[in-house]
Amino acid sequence: MVNLSTISETGFVPAPNLLFTNSVERAIDDMAGKLNPVSVFVLVDSNTASFVLPRLRSQSKAIASATVVQTKAGEENKNLDSLASIWKTLGDQGATRSSLLINIGGGVITDMGAFAASTFKRGIPFINVPTTLLGAVDASVGGKTGINFNSLKNEVGLFREAELVIVSTTFFRTLTNAEMLSGYAEMLKHAMLSSREMTDRLLRYDITGYEPESLLRLLEESVSVKCGFVSLDFNERGLRKALNFGHTFAHAFESLAMVRKAPLSHGYAVAFGMVAALVVSRMKLGFPSDDLQRYAAYVAENYGAFEITCDDYPRLVQLMHHDKKNITSQEVACTLLRAIGEVEVEVAVPDSDITAALDIYRDLLHLP
Ligand SMILES: NC(=O)c1ccc[n+]([C@@H]2O[C@H](COP(=O)([O-])OP(=O)(O)OC[C@H]3O[C@@H](n4cnc5c(N)ncnc54)[C@H](O)[C@@H]3O)[C@@H](O)[C@H]2O)c1
Ligand SMILES: [Zn+2]
Repeated sequence: MVNLSTISETGFVPAPNLLFTNSVERAIDDMAGKLNPVSVFVLVDSNTASFVLPRLRSQSKAIASATVVQTKAGEENKNLDSLASIWKTLGDQGATRSSLLINIGGGVITDMGAFAASTFKRGIPFINVPTTLLGAVDASVGGKTGINFNSLKNEVGLFREAELVIVSTTFFRTLTNAEMLSGYAEMLKHAMLSSREMTDRLLRYDITGYEPESLLRLLEESVSVKCGFVSLDFNERGLRKALNFGHTFAHAFESLAMVRKAPLSHGYAVAFGMVAALVVSRMKLGFPSDDLQRYAAYVAENYGAFEITCDDYPRLVQLMHHDKKNITSQEVACTLLRAIGEVEVEVAVPDSDITAALDIYRDLLHLP
């Protein structure tokens, strides 16, 4: 079993490459000054080019002088073609190993930009500036980079840390409530991996009516939970799998939604996946019933439900058996909670428990 007090005893210190600030332009210019690159490139997608870049260009010297590399927005463009176009622009515009790439965008841009920088000329320095809540709390930190390939998510990539990740809440004004809730699911996950106190606080917080400074402090706390697990297991051989809590169900829900041609955002899938994972946690490890009920009620009220019937169970079970991170043998291996803040990784769960949990998931989220 892992909990964060164990992590503290092992000497966890907050990642030095993370900065939480709403003075983003100054942070970028300070870091650019320290790194002293021969040239600066910024990677944006079509949305961050119009919502974020103009402001940064007008207030940051480093960004104002940078060469802009732009890709199309959306998960479907986190692919080899976009990656090749980034490499090509870097090459054509004379980037060298002493250049700097600044990735400004959601998880698609930070994943792909970090991978482009890590591979161009065997690696140039990069800074991540996440502009979505999901990016800020999860995708931009922890050193996982990559692209989708051969119809598989994050099929090609590598582990490499950014020189700096600048986390700010000032970019979120142009995100929808649904995008805020999507990122918030990962914050709820971090809280449940961490402590009851943090979980209670987040369940009371009004994420769609957030105030920038208070959300920045919550983000700092939330990201430190992720960093705690990452610092012990950068390459995800064991303990980092704690961060997959809820994700075995979530990935199956996302895949089923894709088959139905009604895609489900990752954060929503995680919110629903954690309901199912808590049910399994109750069945296998005695997770307290009142905590399960309270979280499920929060999800039902704020996220609704991902609709499934018993006809979907065989497909979902099959999808869970194919989840690349969670299979050890014949049984699906899940990250589960014994209680809030007490996590167990790679718990073998038989198919009969998965289908029983899906029945209870439907009850808890008021599905017929
Ligand atoms: N590396 C990791 O550890 C990790 C962890 C979690 C998720 N991810 C990856 O992150 C991606 C999902 O991240 P995401 O949800 O940020 O997706 P995204 O980058 O596609 O952003 C969502 C949408 O918001 C737009 N956008 C970005 N910033 C905006 C702003 N400030 N205002 C208005 N619109 C804005 C984007 O253009 C896009 O259309 C997935 O590819 C996933 O695999 C990676
Ligand atoms: Zn996730």
